Amino acid sequence: MSGLGTTLGPLELRSPLIAASGTVGSVVDFAAVGALENYGAAVAKSVAPVPWAGNTPPRIGSAGTGMLNAIGIQNPGIEAWGAEFGPLLAGLSVPVWGSAVGGSPDEFAVVARGLEDAGVSAIELNLSCPNIEGETMFALDPSAAAAVVGAVRGAVSLPIGAKLSPNSEDIVAAADAVVTAGADWLVLTNTAWGFGIDIATRRPTLTRGVGGYSGPPVKPLAMRCVWQVHQALPEVPVVGCGGVANAADVVEYLLAGASAVAIGTAHFSTPRVGATIRRDLERYLKRNRTTVAELSGGGIPW
Ligand SMILES: Cc1cc2nc3c(=O)[nH]c(=O)nc-3n(C[C@H](O)[C@H](O)[C@H](O)COP(=O)(O)O)c2cc1C
Repeated sequence: MSGLGTTLGPLELRSPLIAASGTVGSVVDFAAVGALENYGAAVAKSVAPVPWAGNTPPRIGSAGTGMLNAIGIQNPGIEAWGAEFGPLLAGLSVPVWGSAVGGSPDEFAVVARGLEDAGVSAIELNLSCPNIEGETMFALDPSAAAAVVGAVRGAVSLPIGAKLSPNSEDIVAAADAVVTAGADWLVLTNTAWGFGIDIATRRPTLTRGVGGYSGPPVKPLAMRCVWQVHQALPEVPVVGCGGVANAADVVEYLLAGASAVAIGTAHFSTPRVGATIRRDLERYLKRNRTTVAELSGGGIPW
């Protein structure tokens, strides 16, 4: 893949495209319908220490050109996840990262250890899910987020990414805290809080009411986080995530300071979108005689 290679902390990626957690199932499920060979990594749906049933439907809905969801991280728990998917990961055409979620630093560490045992090649910490009943969003409290990263850092030897929220009061403080605690890179960002209501039924789009908003309308929200963090902490590797639908979006994130760029909601309408984005990105690189590494952080402040 000419010019597509990039570095994310300790990881060398063949492509800057990452399949975002929660939009490609366990990755194993997605292999037959997606175009995984175009990605540098694919992140499995977040997993908790024990099975979670998720929220009552409706738990997804459209909102303009974006999407609302409050799945509530339905997952089988780390033990069952590792038993079912672990043996299949090595046969996929892409490195698989696990995503850990939990209610405490110790719970995150338990899941991270299970993911490492299952054979994932890196671990993302979902510190920023906006729709779990009664749970804290760790990303909103820099010291709580740092405690999770510290516990996981002490429990596994794999590279770790910390996924933060666009709803953070101070995204640079959150970024600084998790990197100091041992995160190798940041994922900026998870979904933003959103809400919709049906004028015919007068019911909220989601049973939970407030959920996570994603898709093209959130791109400027996540881009703002990437830009501000890159300006403040230029050495910290960042995966840009939010609203990516085409190769131009990827180039924007790279220029703003990302080293890699995740694709999420676009998979639901176009599972093979990664193939189109990779092709168009390669054309862009060729036409402009540049590379992903050269574009990364290449935005010029006024
Ligand atoms: C239906 C759905 C489920 C998601 N589940 C997860 C999840 O389990 N863990 C996680 O870290 N992010 C999850 N996300 C967030 C995405 O990974 C991504 O951060 C977010 O949707 C923004 O990117 P996008 O606009 O390209 O979708 C989910 C998003 C959607 C739409």
